[in-house]
Amino acid sequence: MKLVYASRTGNVESLVNKLNADALNINDADGIAEDYILVTYTDGAGEVPFEVDEFLAKNQAHLKAVIASGNMAYGDDNFCKAGEIIADSYGVPLLYKVEDDGTDEDIAKIAELI
Ligand SMILES: Cc1cc2nc3c(=O)[nH]c(=O)nc-3n(C[C@H](O)[C@H](O)[C@H](O)COP(=O)(O)O)c2cc1C
Repeated sequence: MKLVYASRTGNVESLVNKLNADALNINDADGIAEDYILVTYTDGAGEVPFEVDEFLAKNQAHLKAVIASGNMAYGDDNFCKAGEIIADSYGVPLLYKVEDDGTDEDIAKIAELI
């Protein structure tokens, strides 16, 4: 399925590139008319990035699932929490939580899921 991704410092973009998937940067995806999986980083203290909030408010119709990137340094409770919030808010599955741009094992697992 198509991926729409948000990346501020490059980890999510690197992850998506390693997947060799059909992917669109969130900045180029407004008005998307096909089903997609969102791949997002986590911001603040377990927050959904503002750009992702804004995008989903307008483009939730074709959202089918979410994958979240985060970093363990932000604590167990906040790890990849953006994905949990989006899954709860939009009633879609959180497919995977990945640290930064993922290990080879993560990439293999995510490739199977999408
Ligand atoms: C200001 C800031 C806040 C962050 N807060 C969290 C957080 O609450 N939970 C988490 O799991 N990761 C957090 N992270 C880590 C990023 O989500 C993670 O490194 C991600 O891979 C970044 O993706 P990007 O490089 O594509 O922007 C934070 C990073 C920054 C810079």
